[in-house]
Amino acid sequence: MFDIVQHDLVTLEAELLAMVQSPVELISSIGKHLAKAGGKRLRPALYLICAKSSPQQLAKSIPMAVAIEMIHMATLVHDDVIDEAETRRGIPTANSRWGNQSSVLTGDYLFAKAFSLIADHVNSGMLKVLAEVICSMAEGEIIQNKEIYNPNQSEADYLVRIAKKTADFLAASCELGALTAEVPEADVRALRRYGYNLGMAFQITDDILDVTASSVQLGKPAGNDLRQGIITLPVIYALQHSAQKDELHHIVIERNMSDEQVNRGLEIIHETGAVEYCYGKVDGYLSEAKAAIPDTFADEVRQALLAIAAFVSLREY
Ligand code: IPE
Ligand code: IPE
Ligand code: MG
Ligand code: MG
Repeated sequence: MFDIVQHDLVTLEAELLAMVQSPVELISSIGKHLAKAGGKRLRPALYLICAKSSPQQLAKSIPMAVAIEMIHMATLVHDDVIDEAETRRGIPTANSRWGNQSSVLTGDYLFAKAFSLIADHVNSGMLKVLAEVICSMAEGEIIQNKEIYNPNQSEADYLVRIAKKTADFLAASCELGALTAEVPEADVRALRRYGYNLGMAFQITDDILDVTASSVQLGKPAGNDLRQGIITLPVIYALQHSAQKDELHHIVIERNMSDEQVNRGLEIIHETGAVEYCYGKVDGYLSEAKAAIPDTFADEVRQALLAIAAFVSLREY
C-alpha cells in the first residue's frame, strides 16, 4: 500500500527515534517506547504520497513527515490518558507504565518538538495547517468527553466530532503533501477532500472495530468505547432502531458497566444491523474520497491513494 514511499518511511523510522530523544531521560524512555511500538504510519505515508503528486516531484520533506507522526503520537498518548486505556499497538500504554502526569507532559513535549523540527523547513502557511489540526483534535476530544454517557446524541453530532478528532488530521496530511509538491490550488483542495473523506471513513471503521474485533486483533482494548461511555455511530444507530433500545439505553448510561452489560450491549448493537449500517456510511465516504483524486495525477500516486481507500474499508486493526 505504501510501496511508492517505502524508502522514505524507512528514513522516517530512524528520524523519529532520533527526535524523541531529550536530555531528560524519562522523556527519552517514553518517546522510545512510543516510537518503537510502531503503528500504521498512515498520516506520514499520506503526506509523502501526496508530496509525490507533482510531475516534477519538486520537493520532499522528511522533517514534515516526522513532525506529523510525532503529533499523532502525542495525541495518542493524551487520548490513552483520557480513555484510561492500558494497551495500544499491542503493548502497555505510556500511562499504564509511567502514569498520567509523565504521559501528559511527554505528549506536550512531542507537540512542541514537532514544531521546532519543521520551523526552519516549511512556510508559515504550512505551520498554520498543522497547528489547526491540533486545535481541531483538542476540540473533538473535549466535545466527546463532555458527552460521555449521554445517549441523546444524533448522528450529526457524531459526525462533527469525528471530523475534528480524526478527519481533519488526515485532510491536513494530504494538503501538506500537496503544498510540498506545489501542485495547483485546485489539486491542493482535491487532496484535502480526499483526506477528509478517508478520515471520516477511517474513524467510523475504528468505531465499528471497537464493537466487532477482539482486543488481540486491535492491539488495544475492544469494547472500550462502550465501557467508557463514548457513544459511537453503531451505538447511536442501535439506540434509535433496536427493538431493545430501552435496555441498551439503560446500559450506555451505566458508569460502572459490568462485563455482562458490555457484552449484552454489543449483542444488541449487532442484532440491530448497526454494523452493516455503519459500513454503508464508510462506503459513502470512501466513494467521495476516491472521486476526489485528480485524473491528471501520475498513475502510481492514484493507485497508492486508491489502495489506501481500499485498506480502510477492509481493515481489521
Ligand atoms: C488511531 O489511529 C486513532 C484514530 C484516529 C482512530 P491509527 O489507527 O492510525 O493508529 P496507529 O498509528 O496505527 O497506532
Ligand atoms: C482517536 O480517538 C484519537 C484521536 C484522534 C485524538 P479514539 O479514542 O477513538 O482512538 P483509539 O480507539 O483510542 O485509537
Ligand atoms: Mg482512545
Ligand atoms: Mg478517545
